[in-house]
Amino acid sequence: MAQLTPGLDAAVAEPPKSPPCVIVLFGITGDLAARKIVPALYNLARQGLLDERTAVLGVGRREITSEQLRQRLGEALRAGSGKRPVDEKVWSDLSERIEYVIAHADRADQYDELAERVAELDADIGAGGNRLHYVATSPEAFDAVVENIGQAGMHRPGAEGAFARLVVEKPFGSDLSSAQALNATIAERFDERDVFRIDHYLGKETVQNILVLRFANAVFDPLLNNRFVERVEITTAEGEGMEGRRGRYYDRTGALRDMVQNHMLQLLALVTMERPECIGCEPVRDRKVELLRAVRPPTGQDVAARTVRGQYEAGDGACDYREEEGVAPDSQTETYAAVRLGIDNDRWRGVGFYLRTGKRLARKAAHIVVVFRREASGPFTDEACDLRSPNRLVIRLYPDEGISLVFDAKVPGMRPLLRPVRMDFPYEAAFDGGSPEAYEHLLLDALRGEPLSFIRSDEVEAAWRIIDPIKIQWNKTGLPTLNRYASGSWGPAESDGLLGDAYTHWQSP
Ligand SMILES: NC(=O)c1ccc[n+]([C@@H]2O[C@H](COP(=O)([O-])OP(=O)(O)OC[C@H]3O[C@@H](n4cnc5c(N)ncnc54)[C@H](OP(=O)(O)O)[C@@H]3O)[C@@H](O)[C@H]2O)c1
Repeated sequence: MAQLTPGLDAAVAEPPKSPPCVIVLFGITGDLAARKIVPALYNLARQGLLDERTAVLGVGRREITSEQLRQRLGEALRAGSGKRPVDEKVWSDLSERIEYVIAHADRADQYDELAERVAELDADIGAGGNRLHYVATSPEAFDAVVENIGQAGMHRPGAEGAFARLVVEKPFGSDLSSAQALNATIAERFDERDVFRIDHYLGKETVQNILVLRFANAVFDPLLNNRFVERVEITTAEGEGMEGRRGRYYDRTGALRDMVQNHMLQLLALVTMERPECIGCEPVRDRKVELLRAVRPPTGQDVAARTVRGQYEAGDGACDYREEEGVAPDSQTETYAAVRLGIDNDRWRGVGFYLRTGKRLARKAAHIVVVFRREASGPFTDEACDLRSPNRLVIRLYPDEGISLVFDAKVPGMRPLLRPVRMDFPYEAAFDGGSPEAYEHLLLDALRGEPLSFIRSDEVEAAWRIIDPIKIQWNKTGLPTLNRYASGSWGPAESDGLLGDAYTHWQSP
């Protein structure tokens, strides 16, 4: 599909560069730093978007040297670069500005040394006092790291007019009270406008495009309400199980808290929130909070009827979840969760919202399907239409990122026969070049102080208020039962039962 306004590219200003900064990366020896964060910094540098006066002070516990760390990060970068070879000059320039220090989250004394090293690096490189503290340690250490950043005075910028910001990885708490406690620890040291809670889905192009689809176009948003929409389904499916050491973390978390509380509720909020006055960060986040507060999760007895839990067993060459490394042999943790939610506001009252997510499903996929109501007695006969196929707006996040609209068209010929057809916008074919990785967007935004794609404190708490009652009821009653499903399937069959009488299975885009 050709772009309709080819002159647009030239008209859009060059993306702005990051300001000079010392990035203190807590957890630099971890998997996420090697796979996502450092490659994102490299890609920003490659595109000329990272100021040369940027240094990275990596913090970990392992006894390694800066040189060993750089080597390890370089290897990970090359291994993950796919078809595009690493520009060794860019990497060498960047890696020279990466240093390693050891600091344990619970050793306040080591943070004083850290603060000194940050100040020295700042002076060496000319970062002008700007700091970005990126907390990507194991979640148990988040609280202590933030507290020690404060103890050592690192929450203050290094110079008048400079900034000191905090980026925090997911998960943000494990329930409402732990999230509130972490928010309180952070609020003692940082102003909320300097806090950037990561939900990497918000860095994805297709997710950012939801606001464009709804609020830059005349034709979609007027239809997104209970007059026209019957139901909305959101699916995030993963083909993978517990790769590496993930089982240890996952077995304490489960699908509901790992995926629904953050990524899926964010998708729901973006598709259903009211129109913000502008796309500046606060109006958008205000509207998302209002929406999340209007979500009615099932409570009490309703939980058994409106949620489904599952856990994968062996199949498709994969082992049983309970045999994964770090998972208890009698684990009751769900690797699949489906839930039906309602939204109690004038726009959405009466519409069903169905969210499902799982591991070791048939394939990796993520999409949002808005299913429109059918005309009860349209002018065409039932025989002419395929009544099982209502109009649908499909937002595909993965694979084949794009948007399609499914509607009825006349089958050519003499008979008055209608059949569903698809009008498609494939993201990649419509615009030249691939999309930047989510972490590139997020790092640049955090460095530039743009919080639109990050989660605000009240937003994270509103999301936990939806999840906690479900989790509490699951733990209390053991209902609904944990259904075992074969790896490589689409999850427990019981999940289809959640959809109500009119639908026998989830929408597949
Ligand atoms: N946004 C996402 O989608 C996403 C995806 C994956 C992970 N994450 C999050 O990112 C974080 C890191 O994940 P990961 O996969 O990189 O984990 P990981 O491989 O286990 O690495 C954890 C890192 O934290 C450090 N660390 C752990 N406990 C510490 C402590 N008490 N004091 C100081 N440092 C400590 C480790 O240092 P040593 O190894 O040197 O001991 C290591 O650098 C986690 O919070 C995870 O939930 C987010």
